[in-house]
Amino acid sequence: MRLVVVGGAGTIGRRLVPELRSRGHEVVVAGRTSGTVHVDLTSHASIEAMYGQVGAVDAVVSIAAHGALDDFGTLTAEALHANMRAKFYGQADLVLTGQHVCADGASFTLTSGIFADQAWPHVTGGGVISGALHSFVLSAALELPRGMRINAVSPTMIADSAEAFSAHFPGMRPVAMAELVAHYVRCVEGDANGTVVRVYG
Ligand SMILES: NC(=O)c1ccc[n+]([C@@H]2O[C@H](COP(=O)([O-])OP(=O)(O)OC[C@H]3O[C@@H](n4cnc5c(N)ncnc54)[C@H](OP(=O)(O)O)[C@@H]3O)[C@@H](O)[C@H]2O)c1
Repeated sequence: MRLVVVGGAGTIGRRLVPELRSRGHEVVVAGRTSGTVHVDLTSHASIEAMYGQVGAVDAVVSIAAHGALDDFGTLTAEALHANMRAKFYGQADLVLTGQHVCADGASFTLTSGIFADQAWPHVTGGGVISGALHSFVLSAALELPRGMRINAVSPTMIADSAEAFSAHFPGMRPVAMAELVAHYVRCVEGDANGTVVRVYG
């Protein structure tokens, strides 16, 4: 299969991309500055340009762009919207644009996160982004053309990120990277459509 992995040079991507390659897939890594193709999920023109470069791929995996931490007492609708820009609207745009250019039967695998289902302080934006992604996946799965599929992987904190994140999310139990990577691989190689794969340990 020929795939593009947006965010493929990041923490999850660095482990997922070699696994996909070892399984015989041809993987193009994309990122704002990393990877061999450059794309910024906040820009529709940039997403169009990425598809122009990679052509009719068989799968798109997105593991790029975090929601920012926030403080509910000072949060504004404008800040919430800005926070959703890359991770929600950008990933949605990868699908809305990609449905016209990807190969027949192509799959989209997006990344959301545990805050859609479990509230924590200072992640109102993160929760809203991931909840919106889950709803987007349900609708898109019904209407994508030409046998295309879509799923979301919703991770909790990954063991590889525990050192950086556990101060923000005390008590959160991390999940092993190998388990998470296996879920992405199943979304790409399997036939699931419209599922949210909750990897919460
Ligand atoms: N790590 C965790 O514990 C964890 C837990 C739950 C959910 N997640 C979610 O999983 C996803 C990936 O996490 P990660 O830890 O692997 O992230 P990461 O290490 O920060 O890597 C993010 C990747 O995305 C690219 N990127 C960032 N903003 C982008 C943009 N606007 N357009 C295109 N590419 C962009 C970055 O490359 P450039 O800088 O070159 O653009 C980088 O390759 C995120 O959505 C995150 O919220 C992660």
